Amino acid sequence: MGIGANMNYEEQIQQLQRNIHILSAPPEEIPNTVVEVCTAVCDKHGKFDQRTRKATGGIKIPTRPSECPGCLQDKITNLHAEQEKMAARKKESEINRLIDNLNLPERFKESTLDNYSPSNAEAERCLKVCKAYTSKWPERLKQGGGLIMCGKPGTGKNHLALAISKHVIFEHQDSALFTTALRIARKFKSTWSKSADMTEQDVISAYTDPDLLIIDEVGVQFGSESEKLILFEIINTRYEKMKPTILISNLPKDELSDFIGERVIDRMNDGGGCTLAFTWDSYRGRNA
Ligand SMILES: Nc1ncnc2c1ncn2[C@@H]1O[C@H](COP(=O)(O)OP(=O)(O)O)[C@@H](O)[C@H]1O
Ligand SMILES: [Mg+2]
Ligand SMILES: [Zn+2]
Repeated sequence: MGIGANMNYEEQIQQLQRNIHILSAPPEEIPNTVVEVCTAVCDKHGKFDQRTRKATGGIKIPTRPSECPGCLQDKITNLHAEQEKMAARKKESEINRLIDNLNLPERFKESTLDNYSPSNAEAERCLKVCKAYTSKWPERLKQGGGLIMCGKPGTGKNHLALAISKHVIFEHQDSALFTTALRIARKFKSTWSKSADMTEQDVISAYTDPDLLIIDEVGVQFGSESEKLILFEIINTRYEKMKPTILISNLPKDELSDFIGERVIDRMNDGGGCTLAFTWDSYRGRNA
């Protein structure tokens, strides 16, 4: 079955429904024909009134006895089941494609919002905000509301951000991309070489097309001011397109704010976003 098979199912179902409808009403009056009714027996559904239209004049018309209404109904049920199976297969392959494109690190393959166990009240609040974020995802997507997760390493910022991205993919089949600030800068700078196969615009599109972008390691010392500008270019382009972005940083809130500026933070928090501070010690009791 190729593309368009779904459309075919729909047409076949409509045809069967029309046939059932015709059989449920008295036979249509057509000049020079009569409808003969006899009792036929279906192996599966038993007796039914079988109609055969015959010509009364000299002209021959092709006649086919009517089918068992129970069988017609069964065919519709089977077609609906086929239709659903095909939709499920399509959804599964779409999810696989989106997960491939996410760039999900091995470590977070199993991370979900449900297997994050908050070790204190603050962590509980962060989890609650992330859960609210996922349940309001369609709105966040429309309004471009992002999140900032900052604070100590090992507190589960990546875990939660990637759990959100998986929800977006599995539940909504929206696209998401995980990357780091350094990777963005490197990719952008690679376009400056003569042999580059991507333009700056291509790189900007790669980071602004996904419905959700997660940028990790924001605030790691950049080589130059221009690298910081590249990051802002991506964040601002997404802001203008009203697309949600999640920024992750191991810097405390005020240092991150110094680094990227109040304005970027404000922009990030537009559209229902917010800033989460992860201030407790590493989940595994060790640093970084
Ligand atoms: N509260 C938690 N419950 C379950 N696993 C956690 C929790 N916090 C952290 N982890 C796990 O600890 C490891 C480090 O977390 P990570 O998300 O990388 O932290 P961060 O990004 O804040 O440095 C990951 O394997 C993550 O799944
Ligand atoms: Mg991290
Ligand atoms: Zn039948």
